[in-house]
Amino acid sequence: MKTRIVSAETENCETEVVRFLSAGQPVALPTETVYGLAADALNPMACERIFKAKERPFDDPLIVHLPSPDWLDKLCEPSPLARRLAEVFWPGPLTLVLPRHEIVPDIVTAHQNTLAVRISAHPIFQKIINAFNRPLAAPSANRFGRISPTQAAHVRSELDGRIPLIVDAGPCLHGIESTIVSIQSDHLLLCRQGPITKEQLERFAVVLEGGGREEITPGSLPSHYAPRTPCRFWEGGPPPVGLSVGLLAWNKPKVKFAQVEYLSTKQDLRDAAANLYDALRRLDEAMLDLIFVERVPTAGCGAAIMERLTKATGSLTHSSL
Ligand code: TXA
Ligand code: MG
Repeated sequence: MKTRIVSAETENCETEVVRFLSAGQPVALPTETVYGLAADALNPMACERIFKAKERPFDDPLIVHLPSPDWLDKLCEPSPLARRLAEVFWPGPLTLVLPRHEIVPDIVTAHQNTLAVRISAHPIFQKIINAFNRPLAAPSANRFGRISPTQAAHVRSELDGRIPLIVDAGPCLHGIESTIVSIQSDHLLLCRQGPITKEQLERFAVVLEGGGREEITPGSLPSHYAPRTPCRFWEGGPPPVGLSVGLLAWNKPKVKFAQVEYLSTKQDLRDAAANLYDALRRLDEAMLDLIFVERVPTAGCGAAIMERLTKATGSLTHSSL
């Protein structure tokens, strides 16, 4: 299959995308977090193509993106707390895990009784989903276990020849995947940290951490989000002698590395999140023996960055990403 990249500015771009989606084909689309591989969420065969293109195991459920809030009740059973969060944070980078209705195909939820849903705030994604007027299942547009794409070129390097179309709308605003919370009766379970911070959610309910895939979904892999190059936290000091070592840096290092990529030259955590995956990809492509990553402050969205860095270094035995 030949993979084409089309600019989001092309006239009638959404008409062409809708043609593919209606035919049950997956299309890579920009969102405000990362690029997603989108397909008709109510068409099991279309969703199967997402799993195949990504080589994603069928026990790992997909996030569904809604065209508008009125779809929430069609697909799920939102509690008052869920409705409140949807009102405040949608459209935006917050995914809610809710009890689901029968209408959702089993392949989407990996046969579980919950569904992960959000509404994307990206204007191009909104234009396309509104033209399609059906929910879109869209996991990150990378091969399973790899770094999420934040630019159209990243999607091509992951899925070239596996999907027909990529819509290019430039780099993603947030650069890290949405925050995922599972709505419990009297609290929220934080399954994945993201651009909506724990502090923001605590205004609405008690937030407990540790709701990652190991508890909720099967099929977790410790290597999730790892670059191919071995990756370790940098404890300061010079790199090991005789190895070509790169650094993903927060501060300017006082010792020499083969390659240094800065998370944010302004030391701004939002900026660091936006640059994270692109910088990690560049280091991964540099034929290094080892990548050191420097810890960042855990305030605000720093917690979400640290969660990804921890996964990239394989320091955790479980994955919720
Ligand atoms: O920002 C995002 O969320 C991006 C964009 C494209 O929207 N999507 C994304 O999807 O990151 P994905 O599939 O790469 O990550 C979704 C995570 C997976 O780890 C999956 O296991 C988990 O959400 N998930 C999906 N459904 C779930 C459910 N019902 N309960 C718990 N976790 C779920
Ligand atoms: Mg993903």
